[in-house]
Amino acid sequence: MSSLQNNKYPNKITKAVFPVGGLGTRFLPATKSMPKELMPIIDKPLIQYAVEEALAVGIETLIFVTSASKHAIFDHFDPMPSLKMRFEQQGRMDLVEKVDILSTEVKTVFIPQGEPLGLGHAVLQAQSLISADEMFAVLLADDFIEAPQNPLHALLECAQKTGQTSLSVEQVPSERISSYGIVSPKQWQAGQTEIEAIVEKPPRDEAPSDFGVIGRYVLPARIFDVLKQTPADAKGEIQLTDAIKTLLQREGAHAVQLDGQRFDCGHHEGFVMANLHVAMKDPALRSKISDYLNEQA
Ligand code: UTP
Repeated sequence: MSSLQNNKYPNKITKAVFPVGGLGTRFLPATKSMPKELMPIIDKPLIQYAVEEALAVGIETLIFVTSASKHAIFDHFDPMPSLKMRFEQQGRMDLVEKVDILSTEVKTVFIPQGEPLGLGHAVLQAQSLISADEMFAVLLADDFIEAPQNPLHALLECAQKTGQTSLSVEQVPSERISSYGIVSPKQWQAGQTEIEAIVEKPPRDEAPSDFGVIGRYVLPARIFDVLKQTPADAKGEIQLTDAIKTLLQREGAHAVQLDGQRFDCGHHEGFVMANLHVAMKDPALRSKISDYLNEQA
């Protein structure tokens, strides 16, 4: 039995939801016809990093909640046999490897969100694919994570041990506290804690801590009923944090501290830094980029 198939919640977590239906307004015009999750870190799209992270912990079904008018994510994961055959005939196995992204065992499902009515609304669209006693992962691909251990591993373990909502969190700089959902931890133990409360985007001086929720969650199917009852906010969006707050008050929830680095690629600074971070790890790029940066400094 693997460490991810034990404890209180016996069912293995095999499904992950990728909400990719947002408008990505902070990256217009790039996101006018392309989902922001397809923006690359050097040469690999953000969504592919997130998918690889999920597959590495045993996720078998990938559920993409996408905007009806954007087919590019479907195309990205399509096997495209003619392209593969062309590269094979040219003996370019290096290119075959690059376009052959998903093995045939992985199940992919694409659900249109219809209208971008918020992250909570996006997650709710996956309801028909998740059974009532199941837990599932949610990954926001615009949070790019570099970590020594796959961050989903500890999150899934926590969810299976407790049977409760488990959220990935990291300490955020004080000037960014008001941009995130902030949790109030009870008592940390080996990087995990029960949480007392979650507050969406609090003013810095009212925040219960500096632990911000990042885009990796494991949720029980019970969240769907809560989402259906969650009113839209002032912008007309159903927020996932509001539903998590209700579930937390009802039955508890846990936070797992990220052991690694997260780049919020939903805004320019995080996206550019993620690209620099990955480029600086590439021996072929490192010296050229540091020379260039030194010249600019
Ligand atoms: P964000 O708020 O970061 O994405 O949502 P956004 O709304 O696309 O970006 P901006 O603020 O306009 O620049 C976090 C994640 O939730 C998805 C987004 O695609 C992103 O991955 N999302 C958001 C949906 O799938 N549907 C929505 O209605 C809203």
